[in-house]
Amino acid sequence: MRPLPIDQGTVLIIGAARGIGRELARLLARRVRTLVLVDHQAQVLEPLREELLLNYPTLGVLVESCDVCDPQQVDALLASLESQFVRVDVLVNNAAEGDQALYAQEGWGRVEAMLRANVWVPALLTHRLLKPMLERGRGGILNIGSGAAQLILPGSATFSATQRFLDGFTEALRLEVEGQGVTVTRVAPGPLWEAGVEGAESLAPFFHLSLERCAREALAGFERGQALVYPGLGHRWVMRLLPLLPRGLKRSLGRMALRGLRREALLLPPRQAPQTLPLAGEPSPA
Ligand SMILES: NC(=O)c1ccc[n+]([C@@H]2O[C@H](COP(=O)([O-])OP(=O)(O)OC[C@H]3O[C@@H](n4cnc5c(N)ncnc54)[C@H](OP(=O)(O)O)[C@@H]3O)[C@@H](O)[C@H]2O)c1
Repeated sequence: MRPLPIDQGTVLIIGAARGIGRELARLLARRVRTLVLVDHQAQVLEPLREELLLNYPTLGVLVESCDVCDPQQVDALLASLESQFVRVDVLVNNAAEGDQALYAQEGWGRVEAMLRANVWVPALLTHRLLKPMLERGRGGILNIGSGAAQLILPGSATFSATQRFLDGFTEALRLEVEGQGVTVTRVAPGPLWEAGVEGAESLAPFFHLSLERCAREALAGFERGQALVYPGLGHRWVMRLLPLLPRGLKRSLGRMALRGLRREALLLPPRQAPQTLPLAGEPSPA
């Protein structure tokens, strides 16, 4: 199998301004020729761009403003890359929406935002970028998902279902492109709580995982050509044991989580629905 095109290649990261996307950019900067950093607002990417160029002056860094949930903005992004003769070797699908609420009480705007960010976006970007990779016989798609795909998660019905989409999508694509120089990998982290960060105390230290380590393990698995990466030792153990549990037991665990969520829901303020955008071909909302 040919080596992955990370070294001296061009990597496009969606949602690069913070979190796992920013850590991936930091790790990739020492190896790639060009990084294309995409986020809602280009200005939030400026500090990262300056940091990367300070450390790696020969690195090409393109910063692009794009709400990847907006089909017109995706078209504009891809047209901008084409006009600059930028060829994407590796696509990192990293922007996602999540929420915790009972489905019947969730605003439709939140549901649609999750479907759009977690299903529609990776499907569209992969559709636009995979074919040129196959034509060149080299490329990669790194889908950052979540361990929630494996769980029965009341309070996260839409989110966990979208993660199952990413699982099925990644696995089927891998087979379709096998032997053609393109790698497709899904990374499925658990909650990323670093020691010392607020909320971390509720998680046993065995499960603490830094963003940096998550990104490092994600890249290592991708370069090994793994189908699925569970970053972090504690999380990896749990995820590997979960399929061995009977479904009835997983439902019981889900019921326990639901009781906790109902108790919490009494304390939480209602969520605001974000503005919704039309899918390709739909008329814009008035
Ligand atoms: N962090 C965790 O504990 C955890 C655990 C498991 C899985 N994951 C997965 O890891 C991935 C990254 O999570 P993260 O927590 O590192 O991310 P994050 O901190 O929420 O950052 C994501 C970045 O992507 C941007 N973004 C979101 N939607 C976008 C859109 N439509 N267009 C352009 N940019 C967009 C965000 O911009 P705004 O700030 O403007 O929205 C933000 O800068 C997600 O797929 C998530 O499901 C995370």
